[in-house]
Amino acid sequence: MKALVLKSPESELSYEDFELPKPGNGEVRIQVKAAALNHRDVWITKGQYSKIQYPTILGSDVAGLLDDREVILNPGIGWGTETSFPHKDFHILGMPSYGGFAEEVIIHSDQVFDKPQHLSFEQAAALPLAGVTAYRAMFTKGKIQAEDKVLITGIGGGVALMAFQFALAMGATVFVTSGSPEKLAQATEMGAAGAVNYRDPDWSKQLKEMAGGFNLIIDSAGGSGFSQLLYLTRPGAKVVTYGGSKGVVPDISPQLIFWRQLSILGTSMGSPREFANMLSFVRERKIVPIVDSTFDLADGQRAFARMEEGLQFGKLVLAGVD
Ligand SMILES: NC(=O)c1ccc[n+]([C@@H]2O[C@H](COP(=O)([O-])OP(=O)(O)OC[C@H]3O[C@@H](n4cnc5c(N)ncnc54)[C@H](OP(=O)(O)O)[C@@H]3O)[C@@H](O)[C@H]2O)c1
Repeated sequence: MKALVLKSPESELSYEDFELPKPGNGEVRIQVKAAALNHRDVWITKGQYSKIQYPTILGSDVAGLLDDREVILNPGIGWGTETSFPHKDFHILGMPSYGGFAEEVIIHSDQVFDKPQHLSFEQAAALPLAGVTAYRAMFTKGKIQAEDKVLITGIGGGVALMAFQFALAMGATVFVTSGSPEKLAQATEMGAAGAVNYRDPDWSKQLKEMAGGFNLIIDSAGGSGFSQLLYLTRPGAKVVTYGGSKGVVPDISPQLIFWRQLSILGTSMGSPREFANMLSFVRERKIVPIVDSTFDLADGQRAFARMEEGLQFGKLVLAGVD
């Protein structure tokens, strides 16, 4: 079969023949129809991820066919029995196991779920990793309510946009940030109550003036902006973090955290139950994940370049074989 293969820290992704091992006990072979990028894939091609194994096939988000059945795959493998954190052997489809930027994927049948019927293969491929991460952040950790005032930072991000769609579906009042005026306009069109450019020096002041304060903040940037987010909270608010794109957070005031009775909550991916609940929510509310653009698998490098430049609004999808 053909795949985008990453052979070493120095090499580019190369589109070539690759032989997958035979399916093991309980494993099935999926014909990939579409697979989406996550920032994780970019980190790995740049060598910025722990325990990278070569050669590897990236791609955690897959929609495809198991014989005639239209399916999507849960990319979180081996969560285990705890609900509050995954087992130490938990890993994500697409390194170390061979992922979806290929014509086929071999995976345990426990990871296979029916594709929501209202979604195309491309839309369904945009869902799994961002969907389960956003679901756990929003519902399990954030315990979102319709009356909440919510802030989601970096709305161009895959998880952020999914979280935004979930929060809107819940009827919450949602504010967003982005570094791009176009993305701010798109989010406003989708229903954001307010949208601020985080590149403006007074971005947090603007949000304070617009919204007053937030009950729930969802962030994946970290860095110096995170400390400012804490000043945008209402008493008793929850601040949920699932990423650290901008690095270490300086200057956190403990007084602010304890006087306002804040909860700062970390979250990562989600359990099989959360994945199933996320799919039910998407089916019920007919949520359609946003696809920024679709590329041929052979042309996958262009999708990686677009993500590195941060140009996308929604998911970047690679199309599988017909
Ligand atoms: N823990 C988990 O389970 C998990 C799962 C998925 C992702 N992540 C992490 O979450 C982060 C985003 O991943 P992704 O796949 O959603 O990536 P992505 O689609 O490439 O999105 C990254 C986004 O970060 C935003 N951003 C950049 N600078 C920012 C700033 N100063 N303040 C606020 N936002 C800023 C950008 O938003 P704009 O384009 O709007 O400017 C950009 O779209 C990464 O660090 C990733 O590793 C973690």
